[in-house]
Amino acid sequence: MINVSVCIGSSCHLKGSYDIINTFKALISENHLEDKVELAAAFCLGKCIDGVTIKVNNELITGVNTQNMHEIFEKHILASLNI
Ligand code: FES
Repeated sequence: MINVSVCIGSSCHLKGSYDIINTFKALISENHLEDKVELAAAFCLGKCIDGVTIKVNNELITGVNTQNMHEIFEKHILASLNI
């Protein structure tokens, strides 16, 4: 199981974490990964200036936006699942 937390602290929220969560949800369902990826919201992950910040297992990834999300999903989620 891969745990993904998306920061919904105020700074990341303003930078669009809501859209990131929705895009993640869509990607998880398109790839039928509901059993393999757990998506959660997190409070401030301490990298506000570089947000939106997400945490994939224990790795923090900053600067996430709807443009680079697909690449991040492939690199950090699909690749770890060997898909
Ligand atoms: S608000 Fe997201 S890292 Fe601080």
